[in-house]
Amino acid sequence: MEKLKIKSFYLVIFGADGDLSKRKILPALYQRYADKQLNMDFQIICVSRKTEAEEFFESLDSFFTMAKIETKETYKAFTKKINPIKISENSSSNYSELKSILNQNSDWQRVFYLSVPSSAFSEICNALEDVNLIDKKSKVVLEKPLGFDLDSSRKINDIISKNFKENQIFRIDHYLGKETVQNLMVLRFANHLFERSWNGDNVENIQITVSESLGVESRGGYYDKTGALLDMVQNHLLQLLCLVAMEPPASLDADAVRNEKLKVLQSLRLFNKESISKQIVRGQYTRGMVGENHVNSYLEDIHQYSSETETFVAIRAYIDNWRWKNTPIYLRTGKRMKKRYSDIVITFKEIAHNIFPEGQHPLKNKLIIRLQPEERIELVQLSKVPGPGGYRFKPISLKLDFVDSFEERMPDAYERLLIDVLRGNQTLFMRYDELEAAWIWIESISQHWKSALPITLYESGTWGPGDKILDEGVQWQTK
Ligand code: BG6
Repeated sequence: MEKLKIKSFYLVIFGADGDLSKRKILPALYQRYADKQLNMDFQIICVSRKTEAEEFFESLDSFFTMAKIETKETYKAFTKKINPIKISENSSSNYSELKSILNQNSDWQRVFYLSVPSSAFSEICNALEDVNLIDKKSKVVLEKPLGFDLDSSRKINDIISKNFKENQIFRIDHYLGKETVQNLMVLRFANHLFERSWNGDNVENIQITVSESLGVESRGGYYDKTGALLDMVQNHLLQLLCLVAMEPPASLDADAVRNEKLKVLQSLRLFNKESISKQIVRGQYTRGMVGENHVNSYLEDIHQYSSETETFVAIRAYIDNWRWKNTPIYLRTGKRMKKRYSDIVITFKEIAHNIFPEGQHPLKNKLIIRLQPEERIELVQLSKVPGPGGYRFKPISLKLDFVDSFEERMPDAYERLLIDVLRGNQTLFMRYDELEAAWIWIESISQHWKSALPITLYESGTWGPGDKILDEGVQWQTK
């Protein structure tokens, strides 16, 4: 497939010595470079507050060696493109080095990647503006969390939009860069088969699960202020829901797609105290066994005696529009669950009339879209067990494993997203009105849930307390 040309660029990563930059951003760029996609002139300026250049390269080398991603010669060539600089305070007087680098090639595009807490956005943007480094070709990439409620997210947006227009702002949600998530668009809109029955007349319910076996690891400080609702549901799960539930966009144009996603978010039924207590459960993990390992409780992980923060949340949501009115949408995510997996399950309604003998009950077809760890689409349907003597049914899955069908390596989500930023394609990035609509719905939960909903403890290594919100006869699809 022909690839669009990327214009020469400076990518300036603020917070470059942080975990995300070393674990995701730089390896993704390296991979694109090793695959010869970055064959134009470019430079990556890695800005950190404290780390000296030598120390920066040492830790990058050890990360790349540990992750086994480096191929010596290519890695050496790639590091020549990296220029680490130290900016201890975000004031214009400290930006002279950055300015002189970027002005060496004033016709290159400038991408500013803010991989720092949002409290630093304002100072960085002001300093960049003061030294005239932002122009019409510049772009800014923002990482979540973009606020903790509607008000704070508006404030962040005010800061950013003083210096950048909406078409220069790239709000990353890495779930949208996952191959299987993008494949959802193809599955729905490039195949005739499913779209005709993709509605509440035919679908009984939709389940979206993002289950993690890891705990909060070393991010306790961040996580305890955030919790699963803001860390996962506000962004990743809602974005998945948008792709599953949206109307077919008129084209693949960024705004055409984002307009449809926005309509889904705006149609989500808001919660009140009563519906929260019936339709939501929030949990926190206690000690338990994950696989063979004994693991600590959440409180032990964050070194606290008490905390009201949820590490698990399950929600029965509704989208009030023509397509999905009264179709339950079950969302579930949690840490320290039995296994790591994410999937979307569409359960179809039963057939209208059963012509088969008693005892051979038709099952509800299911379309299971497994996003990770293995990428697969599975259609569960009934078949006749071979042999004489009448009809006996057996559910058989038609499975399409991506690894079996494609020789290509599955790229990391950041590879696709970074290339899209460089090309200026915003389709896979959240527009501000989407973010705002997501916050309005989330706030209808977060404003009341601490008083309406006590936390339920669950043992690590289990599937969590999500059953409470299911309708009668419905079960979570687990593997
Ligand atoms: C991040 C969350 O956005 O997504 C983490 O902050 C979570 O808490 C992670 O672990 C999950 O991403 P993935 O790609 O491993 O499913």
